[in-house]
Amino acid sequence: MKSYSIALIPGDGIGQDVTDAAWQVLSTVARHSGFTLTGTSFPWSCAFYKDTGAMMPADGIEALRPFDAILLGSVGWPAEVPDSISLHGLLLPIRKAFVQYASIRPHRLLPGVEGPLKASDFDILCVRENTEGEYSGAGGRVHQGTEDEVAVETSIFTRAGVERILRFAFEQARQRRGKLASVTKSNAQKHSMVFWDEVTRQLAAEYPDVEVTSYHIDAMAARVVMAPESLDVVVASNLFGDILTDLGAAIQGGLGFAASANINPDRSAPSMFEPVHGSAPDIAHVGIANPIAAIWSGAMMLEHLGEREAAGMIMAALERTTIRGIGTVPGKDRTRSITAAVLAALD
Ligand code: IPM
Ligand code: MN
Repeated sequence: MKSYSIALIPGDGIGQDVTDAAWQVLSTVARHSGFTLTGTSFPWSCAFYKDTGAMMPADGIEALRPFDAILLGSVGWPAEVPDSISLHGLLLPIRKAFVQYASIRPHRLLPGVEGPLKASDFDILCVRENTEGEYSGAGGRVHQGTEDEVAVETSIFTRAGVERILRFAFEQARQRRGKLASVTKSNAQKHSMVFWDEVTRQLAAEYPDVEVTSYHIDAMAARVVMAPESLDVVVASNLFGDILTDLGAAIQGGLGFAASANINPDRSAPSMFEPVHGSAPDIAHVGIANPIAAIWSGAMMLEHLGEREAAGMIMAALERTTIRGIGTVPGKDRTRSITAAVLAALD
């Protein structure tokens, strides 16, 4: 029997609620499908930081490396630990250390979910660069606390980094509807984004079957709202992709529906699966967090592990749940009852 070892990092706030729900669904589908999932939980979080002074132990990355995949809830408790510490101590180092350079985030409406737009017939796959760009962490501050203070944050775009994310996106487009939108801002950013456009054009020559269009990020934001059905695969830098995927979440009914995968396409290290939403401290542990984004992320994990049929079973169960109006309106159904409905729909 096939067996996969999964590292579970529920993290903070509702991350714990939704990871628990996703794990119940994943374990059940594994039983039905004839493979085993073994979960090992890591308590790394802001509470862990308060106890130990670090978001994860010094050998945390090495502890995760042997796993087949990582399922993460969410990280952050800004009232207790500044985000700049918690995110740079756990989530972002994992993405970088395991070269999870492709963050993939699907944006479509599950049946029964009403989005804020008139358009309902869209199916977008956002491919976000996940290891460099505006998130490189290069920079510093001088003359801190004085009137002469300076803060510098330098984006870093490497040929290797830009080429691999664009290539990944071209490949995705080829497997979908053959359309790629490359997000730029080369009218204002004359170094990094002109470079991004050049590499887009270079790769386009290798993919004559993919129709590629470059859009400036501002125009893309408008397009996501005005004509989302015109988009197939959208590829963007780290920060542009971050912003666009919250917009994508909004048009698919909210952050409770937005799933994501941090993929290491070479499979030289584990990939990580997590909902796009944060830890939502205001509704933590009151039992009303929507587990759908986390469950959907779990389906993406199974797909990555090669368990396509089981992943399809989860997506079908989610659709059978939302079409009945369960989990579709924020705050209406409890985490437990949404999870129970998905579990029942698996059979
Ligand atoms: C996301 C989140 C993170 C990001 C934050 C929490 C650092 O917003 O996964 O989209 O910006 O990547
Ligand atoms: Mn984000």
